[in-house]
Amino acid sequence: MRKINILKICNSYNNQPDALIEILHDVQNEFGYLSKDALVEIAEALNISRADIHGVVSFYDDFRREPSQGICIKVCRAEACQAVGGEDLAHYAQDKYDAGIHDVYCLGNCALGPAVLIGDNLYGRVTPERLDVLLKQKSGS
Ligand code: FES
Repeated sequence: MRKINILKICNSYNNQPDALIEILHDVQNEFGYLSKDALVEIAEALNISRADIHGVVSFYDDFRREPSQGICIKVCRAEACQAVGGEDLAHYAQDKYDAGIHDVYCLGNCALGPAVLIGDNLYGRVTPERLDVLLKQKSGS
């Protein structure tokens, strides 16, 4: 069933290698992440090498290779956020929440750093204390 869905997605783009990024997004949206098997199936459908597809997947930060455990949290580690406490926040988040914390380099919210993306929601001026509050609200506890 899963393979059929992947082939359908590839087919909807006429199995065009030029549409690889769109296909990867669609497959990730459907299954939540890009498994090794899914990448093999896409490579075969588009008649491209596995090395090519791995190169694209590892280049873009948005592609997930594993199922996400709970909410995806991205902490900005770029310069503007770093200058206002982003590094401390990133270390705090990694120490406290470990899995599910991802580094990102600029969320386009530089004037309101440190910036954090929790799921699809962007937050500015996030302190460790505020991060705890936001994550508690998200988890509903
Ligand atoms: S540097 Fe952090 S949002 Fe741009």
